[in-house]
Amino acid sequence: MIDYRDDCVPDLVTARALYASCSLGARRPIGDDARFGAMLTHANLIVTAWDGAQLVGIARSVSDFGFTTYLADLAVNEAYQRRGIGRELIRRTQLAAPQAKIVLLAAPAAVDYYPHIGFRHHPQAWLLDPDA
Ligand SMILES: CC(C)(COP(=O)(O)OP(=O)(O)OC[C@H]1O[C@@H](n2cnc3c(N)ncnc32)[C@H](O)[C@@H]1OP(=O)(O)O)[C@@H](O)C(=O)NCCC(=O)NCCS
Repeated sequence: MIDYRDDCVPDLVTARALYASCSLGARRPIGDDARFGAMLTHANLIVTAWDGAQLVGIARSVSDFGFTTYLADLAVNEAYQRRGIGRELIRRTQLAAPQAKIVLLAAPAAVDYYPHIGFRHHPQAWLLDPDA
């Protein structure tokens, strides 16, 4: 039985353990307390999935609640993947800001995931890296 919450921000240690439990851990600055802490503190829409006291999934977004929700991280503990948790985290993210479209950058491991659950590819997306 998985519980979903949108009213809590996991602490650094709890969030780090989740990210480290799947391939996203290697793609985010989870060892940098200041940076990882900022990612958790300044996200304004966080949906989490819990198995009892264990954090097993997160959708971490920045939303304006009117037009756009940027889904910055979607992570499910490897032992809990392919049980519908990722899809449910996204559904709840969408419910929290129903007028906003969700945009994201797929990690290489998830490029086939998003089209599978209904996302469409946008060929006009652009990035400006922080050191550009
Ligand atoms: C990508 C991820 C979030 C998916 O979460 P999940 O809870 O395992 O996915 P779900 O169980 O909701 O899957 C929903 C559907 O997508 C399919 N699916 C799951 N992972 C997939 C993948 N990597 N590629 C293609 N399809 C995938 C499932 O089989 C399921 O299909 P079905 O509805 O036809 O049975 C999870 O694998 C993960 O955390 N990966 C590591 C971190 C990562 O890459 N995150 C994405 C960053 S952008």
